[in-house]
Amino acid sequence: MSLLDLVRPDLQGFAGYSSARKEAQGGQVFLNANESPWAPSGEAWANGLNRYPDPQPEALIAALATLYGATPEEVLVGRGSDEPIDLLTRALCVAGQDAVLICPPTFGMYAVCARVQNAAVCEVPLRATDDPHAPFALDVEGVIDAARTAPVKLVYLCSPNNPTGQALPLAQIERVAEALHGRAVVVVDEAYGEFSPLASAVTLRARFPHLVVLRTLSKAYALAGARIGTLIGDPALVRVLRAIMAPYPLSQVCAQAALNALAPDGLQKARAHIDTLLAERSRLSAAIAKLSKVRRVYPSDANFLVVAFEDAVSVYRHTLARGIVLRDVSKHAALPDCLRISVGTPEENDRLLACLESLA
Ligand SMILES: Cc1ncc(COP(=O)(O)O)c(C=O)c1O
Repeated sequence: MSLLDLVRPDLQGFAGYSSARKEAQGGQVFLNANESPWAPSGEAWANGLNRYPDPQPEALIAALATLYGATPEEVLVGRGSDEPIDLLTRALCVAGQDAVLICPPTFGMYAVCARVQNAAVCEVPLRATDDPHAPFALDVEGVIDAARTAPVKLVYLCSPNNPTGQALPLAQIERVAEALHGRAVVVVDEAYGEFSPLASAVTLRARFPHLVVLRTLSKAYALAGARIGTLIGDPALVRVLRAIMAPYPLSQVCAQAALNALAPDGLQKARAHIDTLLAERSRLSAAIAKLSKVRRVYPSDANFLVVAFEDAVSVYRHTLARGIVLRDVSKHAALPDCLRISVGTPEENDRLLACLESLA
């Protein structure tokens, strides 16, 4: 079975919208897209905003391909990695028939996009272990069995996982990809990959055409507000997703912000921030672990910590009353009384620690 056989039958061969930008070839005077001929007045950053933007700017695609170790043909840039999740679900899942597989507790958008597409959600929960370094384990054989039994088109492996924080060993991803060859697309979401010591699953792509990797500039590259996410996948799948994507998904301003972040200065700054963040993660983890109302600090390969408190609700209220907003993740059955804490600047982390130390 070829990868494209996994695409919804009614979308196979679909060319998508033919925009003015797509049809244009050369020229200097653009009277083809019903744009305003006048540049908006104002700041330099607004130059060119009277024109529709390049849907997939070549320079940005090239920079992202280099960053993630892929070829430009394997790269799709979307509005955050949220958009490729939505596109994959719509391209592959026949509404009311197909399913996606998730390993809870995990990132919520996989199930939300499935719900919007009326695709079923098949759950194979992470397993609690006694290993303090890896307290949640992927049920590898459970994932494979479930994906073979149900009409699963997409298998989401989040590494490092949100909200549990741990990365998946590459060998486990490899095992799932090997077993589901020709049956489902395996999506490895590496939104927090820059904070993990493990290699990217992009290194497996050459052997597994049905393996897709998601990356984002929202975390390590400080561009959550620009909404720049990347899907790295088989070029044929990338073409299908481009066909169902909005004609002009990326704003010119955001694409430029991404290019700046990926220029040598920007990369150097991001590396320095990642180093600081990793040092702060260790410091915060050790300091929080010593506090009296803390039951456990989970190990993290991401830019956040998950902490089990004696009473998460009262800690949440205590910090909020002092202006510090944490995320309550205790709705997940596997994370009772847990709060998720993003690692901040050293000053923000000091303020958090002082606040937690003042807990009654
Ligand atoms: C695991 C994971 N994947 C994807 C995303 C979406 O990121 P973005 O759309 O900003 O790229 C998030 C956001 O928090 C996330 O935690």
